[in-house]
Amino acid sequence: MDINFQKGHPLEIAGDCLVVGLFEEEEFTSGILEPANLALDGSLGQLSDEGELVGKSGTSTLIHTLGKVTPKRILFTGLGKRDSVTEKVIKDVFSAAIRKTRGIGLNKVVAAIDTFCSEDIPPQRVCELVTLATINGLYRYEDHISEKSEKDIKEVILNTETPAESNVISYAVIADAINLARDLANAPANFMTPSILADIAEREAKANGIEFERLDEDKMRELGMGSLLGVAQGSSEPAHLIILKYVGDKDNTDDSIALIGKGITFDSGGLSLKPPAGMITMKGDMAGGAAVIGALIAISKLALNINVYGIIAATENMPGGKAQRPGDVVTAMNGTTIEVINTDAEGRLVLADALCYANHLGVNKIVDVATLTGAIRTALGDQIIGTFGNNDEFTKEVIEAGAREGERLWELPADESFSKHFKSDVADIKNVGGAAGGATIGAMIIGMFAEDTPWVHLDIAGVSRTNSINGDDPKGATGTPVKTLVSLCKSISENR
Ligand code: BES
Ligand code: ZN
Ligand code: ZN
Repeated sequence: MDINFQKGHPLEIAGDCLVVGLFEEEEFTSGILEPANLALDGSLGQLSDEGELVGKSGTSTLIHTLGKVTPKRILFTGLGKRDSVTEKVIKDVFSAAIRKTRGIGLNKVVAAIDTFCSEDIPPQRVCELVTLATINGLYRYEDHISEKSEKDIKEVILNTETPAESNVISYAVIADAINLARDLANAPANFMTPSILADIAEREAKANGIEFERLDEDKMRELGMGSLLGVAQGSSEPAHLIILKYVGDKDNTDDSIALIGKGITFDSGGLSLKPPAGMITMKGDMAGGAAVIGALIAISKLALNINVYGIIAATENMPGGKAQRPGDVVTAMNGTTIEVINTDAEGRLVLADALCYANHLGVNKIVDVATLTGAIRTALGDQIIGTFGNNDEFTKEVIEAGAREGERLWELPADESFSKHFKSDVADIKNVGGAAGGATIGAMIIGMFAEDTPWVHLDIAGVSRTNSINGDDPKGATGTPVKTLVSLCKSISENR
């Protein structure tokens, strides 16, 4: 699908459908309505009298123009009141509109960009939002469906007098990275083993000028990664520590950030087996790793002036004959001993060694992304990313990076007072606390392995997938938080 620009009056741009934004409580004669109404012999006025075309958010009206203006159809989409419209509203409304046009089998859609603008949201930003809404809103995962959908939009025209080509190219890169992350997390676990994930990461890295390395189990053993290997030993699929390295700031190679992803390609719980209902979505327990791979590719394509490692701890968590047992003690790469009380709390175990490895590489900052706890979903629901950190300034930077791109992060405490809950009688720590404060305890265990490096932990267990269509997120994996990670690296690269 192509996204192109075209200047000129929207009613004179050829296409199967012109998509127009309508604000609530505005004069019927404002904007495009008046000329359209004239050309359509007053029929829009009639519709308005009947209560349509009122601009209420969630409403839309499709008109066939029958040759009276150049676009074959016009889809009027309600945005609510102009002074309360947000970027999210524009993105979500356009996603719904573009899916509707695809649903009726159209090929070429024109977006009347200026009809979506408000005082705070200029045409350039609307172009970016429409790009995301189009590429991410039209996403579908059909790899294992025999009869693929035939309906597909071929071209979207951004009709505006102020074309913002470079913005659209950048956002198309980000939207593609989100779709890649979704593809990885939507793939069934028998099609997305740790080895396959590593192969795809390698292929994508090489295609995008990113250095690639994978540590196999022998190498991990040599490095003392007993915590990650303890999780891996219940599976017959070999584990990999996947390492991507993007060098965008060659003059400062000792300055780098690590983006670390939980890459559990299937989480059965291990011997602390999950019940079937809780296990069904666990092919997506590598969504953090998927987001990190997507982000690295976008960062490289955008040629950001920063050095970034992507580190993905990839393994299955299975209850095979060699599986670790509740009560086992494992030793992480930094020498910390961990009593494994619950084998289902495996994310922190694999991330422990991934963070040790990042410190061993000498990175200056760490962000880890993980579908870590059911508790975060209970606390924050399915729209907000649980955020924890050991450095207020850096945590704020990450939260703001998300906010700029409409990904919502909310900080929860990683407070020392919780430490007593994961003290062990037989090892330095145990891998779970009590029932209370589950997301904080998981975060704090990971944080121990950040040591003194500024670190932020993003618990995406609530947001990584959606059970029903939601704005530009179709059902399934969302690709969150690719936008936050890219935005963070962009702001670091611009403010140095
Ligand atoms: N992968 C799960 C967390 C999860 C739950 C992700 C729901 C997405 C949706 C994680 O490995 C896990 O099982 N966590 C346990 C931790 C507990 C044993 C301390 C949990 O949240 O129940
Ligand atoms: Zn688990
Ligand atoms: Zn898990």
